[in-house]
Amino acid sequence: MERTLIIVKPDGVERGLVSEVLGRFEKRGLKLVALKLMQIDRSLAEQHYAEHQGKGFYEDLVGYITSGPVVVSVFEGPSVIDAVRKTVGATKPAEAEPGTIRGDLGITIGRNLVHASDSIESSKKEVKLFFGDGGLISYGRSLDEWIVKE
Ligand code: RTP
Ligand code: MG
Repeated sequence: MERTLIIVKPDGVERGLVSEVLGRFEKRGLKLVALKLMQIDRSLAEQHYAEHQGKGFYEDLVGYITSGPVVVSVFEGPSVIDAVRKTVGATKPAEAEPGTIRGDLGITIGRNLVHASDSIESSKKEVKLFFGDGGLISYGRSLDEWIVKE
């Protein structure tokens, strides 16, 4: 079963969109296995966004993600990484499809509301970075037989 790390970024928390964002994933049938409200410090931001170090937008990005509290979650489900990225929408909200989170709720790249892991490798790294080893809750849902069927 795949997992993905989803962060409601500081603009999402500030605008009161936490339940709107996370609710879309709950309603899609994905299983919530970890959740916390926290403030990301510079060191954690640098580790999380290491792939972007040296790019022109890097300092703005670190400033953005550390600018206020965020809600960090892990959701689990079949093909969850790609499915969640599609629900999140394109990085530039102005180009994101209507119906996606960024396409419905955002307009500029510097305030694009949400992060989601982009591959199995990055999801493993990110889950470990934010929740450590064994920081997830494992549980069964009786409803799963009405949600998951290959
Ligand atoms: P994320 O990692 O936050 O889920 O976003 P993403 O995969 O859609 O986009 P990515 O290329 O990984 O970029 C990470 C975040 O950096 C900011 N960004 N700004 N000004 C710019 O050109 C620019 N490019 C990227 C965005 O906040 C983006 O989500
Ligand atoms: Mg990314």
